[in-house]
Amino acid sequence: MALYPSLRSLIASLCFCFLAFSLSAFGRPATFLQDFQVTWSDSHIRQIDGGRAIQLILDQNSGCGFASKHKYLFGRVSMKIKLIPGDSAGTVTAFYMNSDTDAVRDELDFEFLGNRTGQPYTVQTNIYAQGKGNREQRVNLWFDPAADFHTYTILWNHHHIVFYVDDVPIRVYKNNEARGVPYPKLQPMGVFSTLWEADDWATRGGLEKINWSKAPFFSYYKDFDIEGCAVPGPANCASSATNWWEGTAYQALNALEYRRYRWVRINHMIYDYCTDKSRYPVAPPECLAGF
Ligand SMILES: *[C@@H]1O[C@H](CO)[C@@H](O)[C@H](O)[C@H]1NC(C)=O
Ligand SMILES: *[C@@H]1O[C@H](CO)[C@@H](O)[C@H](O)[C@H]1NC(C)=O
Repeated sequence: MALYPSLRSLIASLCFCFLAFSLSAFGRPATFLQDFQVTWSDSHIRQIDGGRAIQLILDQNSGCGFASKHKYLFGRVSMKIKLIPGDSAGTVTAFYMNSDTDAVRDELDFEFLGNRTGQPYTVQTNIYAQGKGNREQRVNLWFDPAADFHTYTILWNHHHIVFYVDDVPIRVYKNNEARGVPYPKLQPMGVFSTLWEADDWATRGGLEKINWSKAPFFSYYKDFDIEGCAVPGPANCASSATNWWEGTAYQALNALEYRRYRWVRINHMIYDYCTDKSRYPVAPPECLAGF
């Protein structure tokens, strides 16, 4: 309830939900194979519900991964994910966009770090712009992400990049090029997801090892939605100001989103590179722009 402190914000959120619903009602219902293909271990990704959902499998033989068939320059990508329940320590489920260019990489990462039964999942986000990353932030989720599906979204336009968990913004990276901060805008990015074992670092810095006697581990995905400018695709799509994701409502957080973002930062943020003095004695310029 802390999230909805007043009637006013409740009404605002109802309006917001209605708006989100009416928008999505016009989106296309994507099956997995419409937009994606398996890129790692066919035998560990199963289509279910007529291809509208998939099950990812991690066992001692392999993890798995999938990627979009196209790359996109600006837009919004979202999917519903239900993470591994119970003892998921040492597992990492990732959902990210990546330019797939070695030298000058752009990348927007959601990484879900598993935990021991009853301990909270951590969501790590990172942003690479024009080849430079090292911008990790971590939040603990305020619900059990393995009990049900939740929507994870990356919005990317000329103004900012926003990572949403359901309708709560957990991270904002503004276009601060005017202050010399690099911003990804020149390269299209593909959409990727993987499930793998990373018990050398993922949970409590690698202290908690994966318990293989609990394998196989399963996570589930559905409601794939990519809206953006496919590359290659129509010329000038990405620079068009008429794309809905470039519209006024998407150029900055609204008051309700801002309150929710603030609530996450105060109550659920457990790591922010911006305040890590051992790594950055002087905070990087994007950190000084406020949120
Ligand atoms: C796992 O739970 C512990 C104890 O609550 C917490 O310190 C840690 O941040 C959690 N997440 C990870 C990925 O270790
Ligand atoms: C691994 O799982 C087994 C089976 O549930 C359990 O008996 C064992 O204690 C677990 N090991 C750890 C390190 O949690």
